[in-house]
Amino acid sequence: MKQDVTISFERFNHWNELSKNDQELVERANAVSKTAYAPYSKFHVGASLRLSNDEIVTGSNQENIAYPSGLCAERVALFYTGANFPDEQIETLCVVAEGDLLPVDKILSPCGACRQVMLETEVRQKKSYRIILVSQNGVTIVFNSAVDLLPLAFGITD
Ligand code: THU
Repeated sequence: MKQDVTISFERFNHWNELSKNDQELVERANAVSKTAYAPYSKFHVGASLRLSNDEIVTGSNQENIAYPSGLCAERVALFYTGANFPDEQIETLCVVAEGDLLPVDKILSPCGACRQVMLETEVRQKKSYRIILVSQNGVTIVFNSAVDLLPLAFGITD
């Protein structure tokens, strides 16, 4: 029996069409991407997330000469949140990237390991959160749940 899995997202031509709260997240992600330590890839990623107490947490990718020791921006922000705000729920996560790895009109699609962490974070907090992805020229897509980025995930969903 053939079955389909569908995911959905909303697309905007530019992030300035988002709500003021979401625009603030894009600005914070852009700002924190400047703190990326990325001497090897030269790819600067910024992540920002808004918590239910309205606090914004940010993170950037941090590389290391022993390559697998580095960490993506999303996981820096998500793990910081787990360590410092364990009782708050994430409402929205935003990811931006800057560098030659991606053409300016292409949206960074988070890596598989980040998707797994994004999904488990959602399951832990028992509430879905929105994910905003923005290209260098401003094109934006918004998902309503981490499940949309990792359907049929290992272990923790039906
Ligand atoms: N990177 C992220 O920070 N997030 C992603 O979703 C994909 C990749 C980082 C890891 C590495 O420092 C650089 O971008 C190039 O892969």
